Amino acid sequence: MSSQHDASLRHRSPPGASSPSQQSAPMATQAAGTTSPKVAADEKAPTATKSLPQTPNTSFSPLTIAGLFLLSFIGFYATFTAPSDDVESLSKMKGVDKLVGTALLLNNAVANAIGLPTRPAKPQKGEFGKLPPMGFNSWNAFRCDISEEKFLVAADKLLELGLEKLGYDYVNIDDCWSTHERDPNTGRLVPDPIKFPDGIKGTADKIHSRGLKFGIYGTAGEETCAHYPASLGHETLDAQTWADWGVDFLKYDNCGVPDSWKDPYSYYPEDWYGTYENQTGGPAAPLDYDWSKSLQAERFYRMRDAIKKTGREMYYSLCNWGHGHSERWARQAGAASWRMWGDIVPQWEGKKEWSWGFMPIVNYASFFAEYTDFYGHNDFDMLEVGNGNLTDAETRTHFALWAGLKSPLLIGTPLDQIEAKDLAVLKNKEIVAFNQDPVYGASILPFKWGINPAWTWNQTHPAEFYSGQSVKGINVFVMNTLDVSTTKSFTFEEVPGLRKYGEYEVKDLWTGKKLGVYHGAWRGEVEAHDTRVLLFTEKGGKHPHKGKLPKPAIWKKKPISTVWPLPKGGKE
Ligand code: GAL
Repeated sequence: MSSQHDASLRHRSPPGASSPSQQSAPMATQAAGTTSPKVAADEKAPTATKSLPQTPNTSFSPLTIAGLFLLSFIGFYATFTAPSDDVESLSKMKGVDKLVGTALLLNNAVANAIGLPTRPAKPQKGEFGKLPPMGFNSWNAFRCDISEEKFLVAADKLLELGLEKLGYDYVNIDDCWSTHERDPNTGRLVPDPIKFPDGIKGTADKIHSRGLKFGIYGTAGEETCAHYPASLGHETLDAQTWADWGVDFLKYDNCGVPDSWKDPYSYYPEDWYGTYENQTGGPAAPLDYDWSKSLQAERFYRMRDAIKKTGREMYYSLCNWGHGHSERWARQAGAASWRMWGDIVPQWEGKKEWSWGFMPIVNYASFFAEYTDFYGHNDFDMLEVGNGNLTDAETRTHFALWAGLKSPLLIGTPLDQIEAKDLAVLKNKEIVAFNQDPVYGASILPFKWGINPAWTWNQTHPAEFYSGQSVKGINVFVMNTLDVSTTKSFTFEEVPGLRKYGEYEVKDLWTGKKLGVYHGAWRGEVEAHDTRVLLFTEKGGKHPHKGKLPKPAIWKKKPISTVWPLPKGGKE
């Protein structure tokens, strides 16, 4: 069955919904001169003056080189044994661990200095689900046109292209892997024998034998979104079947919900954007409605319990598109990540059928980023890097923001055809390291709304200035939502963790280049639809901030619920 055919079988949009072209909200182009954000009005505030970067001293004595080799050797050992590579964890370590941890830090410093890759710290035993998952999923690449062969190619490419080394280690099957009927004797789901001649277990074994992890897809309804049998009422048997096959990851979707399981109220995140999608029906809920007790939540609790009964560790990824404010109860449902919005599509803005471009997703994300931390991640859907007609700048923005928001990083493009420039984006070691930071679990948060500095919501221009902390320093993400290249700026006072009159070394994480030392503010060019990712450290690479970051000041000014547009009727 072709993907087109399957897609057309779905019934997400209400009959009579407007066409994609009517639905999309084209972005207003504004003249560059009128859109530069305001640097703090205080006349005495430091301006974005930049000291000229010093020419690095590149002559090494033989002794220095021998020392570097020795450190690298110790560090090489350390990278495979040390629990993490950050200074804070180091202070808690003792004895041999401390020695090894120190060696790892030194190794990373040396590797950074001479431009070698460092290995991101992997979660240790007992830390399952701590970090956003990374890997490959078939949906954005192949829709229903899947086969074992395609997953083995994806697995081999994750290894060959060096992606697995960076943490991309899940190979996940999405919808359309089964036949249309359960086994009449056992009641079990039946793998499609043409697509998976050795069964799902056969494919899972082959993925595992390559040292990778294996994921599958199910649905908390009577049928999957592509109309295959689903798990509502069969949770125990299906979870056991998946456990028997060696499944490590379950994406659990939200289609085919029978009327008896519908809640009296609704909450669809897409309504927030002003577009009604009649996905599960019902009027808007009162603001204080307890969604954790909803029927919606109950469908996902059932699968949580069923997975638990199997005794197998399975990453539980909720895919109910943010309905019923799932970010409020998904952790309780045992989920390690939860989808926040409808399906993604590789385009900058607007909507195509039931799928959405980047801007609407980012817009919502900017208000909900706080729900993410270790062991629980907002999921803004799988990556579109390599798909559609994205510009290079749009691809960078998509990856930078998804990584910064700590969304799962699941590649959704055929990896045997990926272009080198897109691969380079997926392999940006330092941006991946932000997503996988072992010490700081929080997402980036907007500290300034860019186009709307006065904290007002803008349907086509989401927040442009975000920051977050990593073991390396303070990271600032500056997006340009305009269709033209623009100069963007911010003062250090605006960025949590930076001192108002501080002096910081700034590194561009896309180019890997050190930009020099900045005083009090940063100003720079951002291409149309691009996102600069900047790492701020004290001179000498030291972390500028100890401990938890304060919340960006702008968040305290007004409760967000009073400013975001509410669905018709003024209720959530
Ligand atoms: C959607 C889901 C997509 C994909 C699709 C399969 O509900 O959001 O990511 O899994 O179903 O039919």
